[in-house]
Amino acid sequence: MTLLATKATSQVSNTSEPLAGASAPVIVIRGLIKTYPIGEQEVRALQGVDLTVNRGEIVAIMGPSGSGKSTLMNVIGCLDTPTGGSYELDGVAVNELDDDQLAEVRNRKIGFVFQSFNLLRRTTALENVVLPLIYAGMGGEERVARAKAALARVGLAERMHHHSNELSGGQQQRVAIARAIVNRPAILLADEPTGALDSRTSEEIMALFQSLNHDDGMTVLFVTHEHDIGLHTRRVIRLRDGRLESDTPVAHPLVAADILATMPLPLAADGAAEPAEPAAPAA
Ligand SMILES: Nc1ncnc2c1ncn2[C@@H]1O[C@H](COP(=O)(O)OP(=O)(O)OP(=O)(O)O)[C@@H](O)[C@H]1O
Ligand SMILES: [Mg+2]
Repeated sequence: MTLLATKATSQVSNTSEPLAGASAPVIVIRGLIKTYPIGEQEVRALQGVDLTVNRGEIVAIMGPSGSGKSTLMNVIGCLDTPTGGSYELDGVAVNELDDDQLAEVRNRKIGFVFQSFNLLRRTTALENVVLPLIYAGMGGEERVARAKAALARVGLAERMHHHSNELSGGQQQRVAIARAIVNRPAILLADEPTGALDSRTSEEIMALFQSLNHDDGMTVLFVTHEHDIGLHTRRVIRLRDGRLESDTPVAHPLVAADILATMPLPLAADGAAEPAEPAAPAA
């Protein structure tokens, strides 16, 4: 317990150190509106959201079901276009881009992780991670080297030739994270990344996000329904009815690596404790 407290304090103070280039806004959203036509009616998913996120932040987005969290993430991730308002991503006015430019911005600046992993089945971890680099037009040798490095970064170097359906949920989510970071995006976005995972595996994913944020300087935004998962950040944003309800700093973020150290190891099929996979090994 003492160890936990000591380690937590030291990591939290590290987390507050300004990163190079931190405090420059990377997401600037003003008056964002998204409506979906449903027959004669329209659903107002976002009703005027203002949000600024600086480079190097780690942010949780929370709120009841239907409050607009996924809609907001999809707009930020350039997977969907807003009906009104403005959105600047890393200095680029996203609303002025055509579809091709939008796809390019998405590929270069955004890594997206989903609750259901969205990996290609019967395809190896390595092939899944190489895919965005093929779209980016990178040559064969370089893209394999980059994909292997990304898999090593998420602790899956040993599993790169496994098919995605041969991996556990947590491992599949790591492959999805490797695929999201392989292009070295400015921002990592995740929509309920731990929604399908047990509590230990969720904590492992949080350890990875905290390491990508703290050690690699990546800006991280994720949606969660779980209060404790949200507290692994420095800022919690709440949506309600398509509006920003609150935007609250987290004074003492939970440190996933320390929480993991207090959790029992998962049992292997033979009943023996399995050695834990490293949460965030060096590349
Ligand atoms: N493609 C769509 N067509 C029509 N309505 C949609 C569409 N996508 C979302 N909506 C509506 O927009 C509102 C916001 O949905 P959204 O998926 O953003 O909520 P959410 O906060 O992510 O909810 P959950 O926690 O259940 O994932 C909801 O009323 C939803 O029904
Ligand atoms: Mg959602």
